[in-house]
Amino acid sequence: MLTLTINGLSHDVDVPEDMPLLWVLRDHLNLVGTKYGCGIAQCGVCTVHVGGKPVRSCQLTIGDVGTRAVVTIEGIGSTPNGAKVQQAWMEAAVPQCGYCQAGQIMSATALLDSNPQPDDSDIDAAMAGNICRCGTYIRIRRAIKNAAAKSA
Ligand code: FES
Ligand code: FES
Repeated sequence: MLTLTINGLSHDVDVPEDMPLLWVLRDHLNLVGTKYGCGIAQCGVCTVHVGGKPVRSCQLTIGDVGTRAVVTIEGIGSTPNGAKVQQAWMEAAVPQCGYCQAGQIMSATALLDSNPQPDDSDIDAAMAGNICRCGTYIRIRRAIKNAAAKSA
C-alpha cells in the first residue's frame, strides 16, 4: 500500500510500485482530467506537478513519486498562479478540441511559478514539450502573458 498526497488530500493506493502515476490518477483515483497521449514523454498531455515541478506522469512510476506532493489539473485552480492561468485561458478562449489543454495549463502554471514575467523565448522553452494538434500556440502564448500581467 502506498500513500500519495494529491491536490492536498491523502490517498492510499494498492498498486505495483512500477505503475506509472498517470495510470494511478486515471484508473484508480478517477482523476481523469490528466490525459493519455503518446505514453513516451513526447507530447506533454499527461503533465502534472510533482514536488512543485512539471513532470510527464506517463513516465514517472508511482514508486518514484515518494512523499512529494502531486497537483493535477483538478487541483491547480486552487493555487495562485493556477487560478490566474485558468482565468487567462478562459478570457483568451484558448482551447479548440481541448485534449492537450490540461497539460498546457500545468506547464504554463509551472512556468509562472518559476518565472513570473517570462518573455517569448522563456515561454517557447517552457512549453516546447506540450504538443497541440489544433495549433492553439498563439492563444496559449497570449494567455500566459495575460496571466503574468495580472502578477505584475
Ligand atoms: S502521454 Fe505522457 S507525454 Fe505524452
Ligand atoms: S486544443 Fe486540440 S490538441 Fe490542443
